[in-house]
Amino acid sequence: MLLVELSPEAIFIQTDGRFAFVNSAMVKLMGASRPADLLGMPVLDRVHADFRPIVQERMRRIHENKETVPLIEERWVRLDGGCVDVEKTASPFIYMGREGGQAVVRDISARKSLEDQLRQSQKMEAVGRLAGGVAHDFNNLLTGIMGYSDLLLQRAGADDPTRGDLEEIYRAAERAGALTRQLLAFSRKQVLVAEVLDLGVVITDLSRMLRRIIGEDIALMTVINPGTGKVRADRGQIEQVILNLTVNARDAMPSGGKLALEIGNVDFDSSYAQEHLRAAPGPYVLIAVTDTGIGMDPETRSHIFEPFFTTKEKDRGTGLGLSTVYGIVEQSEGHIWVYSEPGHGTTFKIYLPRVAEPVDAAVAVPQVAPLQQGCETILLVEDEDMVRKLARVALETNGYHVLEATRGEEALAVLRALSGTIHLLLTDVVMPGMNGRELAEKISAMNPKMKILFMSGYTDDAVVRRGVLIEGTAFLQKPFTAGSLLRKIREVLDSAAAGSVRPAAAVSP
Ligand SMILES: Nc1ncnc2c1ncn2[C@@H]1O[C@H](COP(=O)(O)OP(=O)(O)OP(=O)(O)O)[C@@H](O)[C@H]1O
Ligand SMILES: [Mg+2]
Repeated sequence: MLLVELSPEAIFIQTDGRFAFVNSAMVKLMGASRPADLLGMPVLDRVHADFRPIVQERMRRIHENKETVPLIEERWVRLDGGCVDVEKTASPFIYMGREGGQAVVRDISARKSLEDQLRQSQKMEAVGRLAGGVAHDFNNLLTGIMGYSDLLLQRAGADDPTRGDLEEIYRAAERAGALTRQLLAFSRKQVLVAEVLDLGVVITDLSRMLRRIIGEDIALMTVINPGTGKVRADRGQIEQVILNLTVNARDAMPSGGKLALEIGNVDFDSSYAQEHLRAAPGPYVLIAVTDTGIGMDPETRSHIFEPFFTTKEKDRGTGLGLSTVYGIVEQSEGHIWVYSEPGHGTTFKIYLPRVAEPVDAAVAVPQVAPLQQGCETILLVEDEDMVRKLARVALETNGYHVLEATRGEEALAVLRALSGTIHLLLTDVVMPGMNGRELAEKISAMNPKMKILFMSGYTDDAVVRRGVLIEGTAFLQKPFTAGSLLRKIREVLDSAAAGSVRPAAAVSP
């Protein structure tokens, strides 16, 4: 019997359907303090209501047929009312002269939780792929809509009667562009400009704005633990994350409360990593955002990161806030967890990998150059007709000489047939056949002086690895307007740097 008592597996014996013996692992599993808490109690009382019929049937088979019943998963109820997922086998047993059954019960809640996390992450992956695909194609369409209305606006005089309508089209397209950007953020397909950041500085700089957002009924407390390390992330995106969480917290506290923002160092050991899918052991910086608001039930909690999931009234929420947060955190190689119960507030925890390097010096913000024309020759490569035509019209109207190709192979043929100089290659990144980067590499080998400008709706490809734009690569995000295209073209043409593409192997993410 000592063997049974010391077993790490929970073991019990029942006679007449009541606990007759429990080992100490069973006492612990049930949240009891001693065997007497359980002895004499009907076994079915501790079985979750959903599983009572099947457990009852199994007990009948044990008692009447003297069968050993196979392993199944059940849910049990601990003495404190909490549930625990278990795996159980049972067989007939005679205990102190009375017929009954013996059972071995194993706690599988850790495995269940991992399975849940896996299902959750597969779901997010699938939704992300869908959202990213839609956003990518949508960006090409928007580039057309914005670009052409921009051209028409330039052509229309100040008192043209259609001006107001054109401006409406343009504004609607801009709003659609903002929406696609959020979808891209969620699907981790946006361009991040990562730098080494001191989150304490980011939060301090942001806190005035946060106070304004939350209003006077909510107290904001920021805790920046001394010695908090640095992270590598896109500052604008991290600000977006903190803003979205703050707005949600405010909405969860309609009659006031407390909002705490805390950062500090955390190290994941391997046991934490084992319990949390995709969390590698190592040093992290934790950003914790805690509110004292209405909280969430488990059902709501399991959907919050999905795009367009919202519990808010129409026009109050789009349901994109947390999916954007999720995308940014994942793309920054971090993790996000939520802890929440109805009526008990909510804590979001974001872990970003801690880095040892010093903070990057502030990057000089490039001056917005006035719209400039030019007379250079540009090789334009884009498979999407509408975008290509738009770029050509915008460039030609402003003095440039444009050569077109719909794909890489065609561009190389144009180049070979040509005797004059091409000053700049403007190329899409994702194209059928040769991609933009391969094309750029081939062309710069033939013509090292040519400048290169990439354009893309997203950049899940050779130019951008893991979402981080390679330093020094000129890049134009779709959708773009004629104005932003022309400015970017001028900027690249006038820059001193040659347009050479660094070999892929030398690229560090
Ligand atoms: N701090 C919180 N407390 C309680 N519920 C929250 C909290 N944060 C998010 N939620 C729940 O998660 C849902 C989704 O949040 P999300 O930020 O993605 O969208 P939204 O706030 O509804 O709309 P949007 O952010 O696009 O304006 C919310 O509608 C709300 O039900
Ligand atoms: Mg929100």
